[in-house]
Amino acid sequence: MDKSAKDPAKISTMFSTIAPRYDLLNRVLSLGIDGYWRRFAVNQLPKVENAKFLDVATGTCEVALEIAKKYPDAKVSGVDFSEGMLELGREKVRKAGHQGRIDVRLADVTSLPFEDNTFDASIIAFGIRNVQDYKKGIAEMGRVVKSGGKVVILEFTSIQNRFFKLPYRFYITKVLTFIGEMVSGRKGAYKYLPSSMLEFPSPDEFKRSMEETGLQDVKYYKLTFGVTAVHVGTKPK
Ligand SMILES: C[S@@+](CC[C@H](N)C(=O)[O-])C[C@H]1O[C@@H](n2cnc3c(N)ncnc32)[C@H](O)[C@@H]1O
Repeated sequence: MDKSAKDPAKISTMFSTIAPRYDLLNRVLSLGIDGYWRRFAVNQLPKVENAKFLDVATGTCEVALEIAKKYPDAKVSGVDFSEGMLELGREKVRKAGHQGRIDVRLADVTSLPFEDNTFDASIIAFGIRNVQDYKKGIAEMGRVVKSGGKVVILEFTSIQNRFFKLPYRFYITKVLTFIGEMVSGRKGAYKYLPSSMLEFPSPDEFKRSMEETGLQDVKYYKLTFGVTAVHVGTKPK
């Protein structure tokens, strides 16, 4: 993929443009499975009393809200660099009555506005593939986590299953872009999605990148025939 396709200014504008239809499109394009993928990732967070979690690239706060539901005594910070996505996220947090527990702010994944060793875990769902220097993003997620804390990453993977590979390619290069453009009403907005999904590193390669940033015991779980994977790493003590 052309590197300029991941230019941060372009990516944040693209997400602000599609923000109003983002949640609906997720449900439709994933055939309703996206909620299960996020719940699986949230389940990998450590069970700690009064935990502090960071949801990176929180977008419309889907993961932050899932955490608030599953961990009733946890505090969540959500960051994203698209004001359009965050606006919708803040509204959902307010409607759910979680303003006191979920704090949302504008920030880039590669430069997180938090001290070292602040959170019990950091999590990112469907955000890391958009980050130009994704290793820097992983390193930042590790930096702000306490020793022994977790870094959890949910992302699409380059699918390996040989029976599923071709129909999947057809679905994301043809069907997904067509529906994406129809529902969002934005021509071109969904063109970037297939290449960012298909060209993302394999789960093993991604695991190595996490290890290179200093995370240990990195494990991954493939979900739904390997359409997505959840990687979990631990910050050394
Ligand atoms: C596909 S959405 C995922 C949103 C949410 N995590 C979810 O599960 O629905 C990707 C989000 O990543 C954000 N994003 C991409 N690159 C980023 C970066 N470098 N810094 C902060 N946010 C970023 C986008 O603005 C967008 O809201």
